[in-house]
Amino acid sequence: MKKAALFAAALMVSATAFAQNIQLPAPQKSGGKPLMEALSQRKSAREFDAKELSDQTLSNLLWAAYGFNRDGMRTAPSANNKQEFDVYVTLKKGLYLYNAKDNALELVKSEDLRSKAGKQGFVGTAPLNLVYVYNTAKMADEKMAYADCGFIAQNVYLYCASEGLAAVVRGFVDKEELAKAIGLKPGYAITLSQTVGYPKN
Ligand SMILES: Cc1cc2nc3c(=O)[nH]c(=O)nc-3n(C[C@H](O)[C@H](O)[C@H](O)COP(=O)(O)O)c2cc1C
Repeated sequence: MKKAALFAAALMVSATAFAQNIQLPAPQKSGGKPLMEALSQRKSAREFDAKELSDQTLSNLLWAAYGFNRDGMRTAPSANNKQEFDVYVTLKKGLYLYNAKDNALELVKSEDLRSKAGKQGFVGTAPLNLVYVYNTAKMADEKMAYADCGFIAQNVYLYCASEGLAAVVRGFVDKEELAKAIGLKPGYAITLSQTVGYPKN
């Protein structure tokens, strides 16, 4: 193998080796638009700028979505307080699982799986898709799981409206393909996905 090819191969190996868990900065829990203004601006968007979201924005967004806001309790309600959801985070640099307790993104795969998160074109190029997955042993009633998911998704919509970000929640997803790409174990089911990014001007 030529020297340049060896060097390129070494770079690729080290890039994979360095893709790690991400410790997010503490979420900023004040500021943003007043609730009535955020509600006035909440809407679905289907055009996104490719610009990536900062770790601070990810932290704020994920905390708003499904973080802990009281002792062991979340920003989103859940039937019987089952807290059955996991929030997966697909970024260009990889697939992560949101760890709300540690405020961290746990690396699941160093692969860009964004395009697997939905069947619409913008899904593969927007900076972030959240994938909502629930534990069917914790929550046997699918209808309740979808209701619980709706609260998380609305938290995301409102955070985005408050911060001038664009978002759309989506059910048009090949769930079987996405579950395989994520590597979900039996007993975990995808409900919806949600794209987030900066609005395209
Ligand atoms: C459960 C659910 C599934 C949805 N699935 C999709 C989808 O797959 N693709 C999409 O572009 N929008 C999807 N939407 C967004 C709706 O089309 C959108 O909320 C609706 O048109 C109203 O527009 P608004 O959100 O701007 O008020 C979905 C919304 C919900 C609540």
